[in-house]
Amino acid sequence: MALRTIRTFGDPVLEKVCRPVEKMTLRLQVLVEDMLETMYNANGVGLAAPQVGVLRRIVVIDTNFEEPEPIVLINPEILETEGEQTGDEGCLSLPGKSGTVTRPMKVKVKALDINMEPFELEAEGLLARAVCHECDHLDGVVYTSKVEGELHDVTYVDDEEMEEETEE
Ligand code: NI
Repeated sequence: MALRTIRTFGDPVLEKVCRPVEKMTLRLQVLVEDMLETMYNANGVGLAAPQVGVLRRIVVIDTNFEEPEPIVLINPEILETEGEQTGDEGCLSLPGKSGTVTRPMKVKVKALDINMEPFELEAEGLLARAVCHECDHLDGVVYTSKVEGELHDVTYVDDEEMEEETEE
């Protein structure tokens, strides 16, 4: 496994429509592993293949902060949406920024897994937001086109600072 370079906003690769995966290959398996490693390394909750420069319909997501719970969606298609949520959203391709985006509260998505077996996933809350955000990437859509108001800076508090604060 290896870390891949995350493409940032302004890179034309992020505005292209990705091609479906027709056959799982060793190369694509390695891509999926690398995408997961790259996402975890960047503390992200989702990453789409175009963000690492590959125009294929593949996304990885993990919104579970307790322990790793990776989700791989190949050729995902959102079948149904329900409700609405308005909240902060960011993207690994635009580090340090976030903005308010309205997304469905629930989505039902169908996709293929790493073995190219079809499955359906029902997602809610943050996971639903991540599914929508990552699927948008596959169509060359970045979240900034959906932001209500202005983008703002995100300030990260590192773990050590947090611990110091708790100790005091
Ligand atoms: Ni993104």
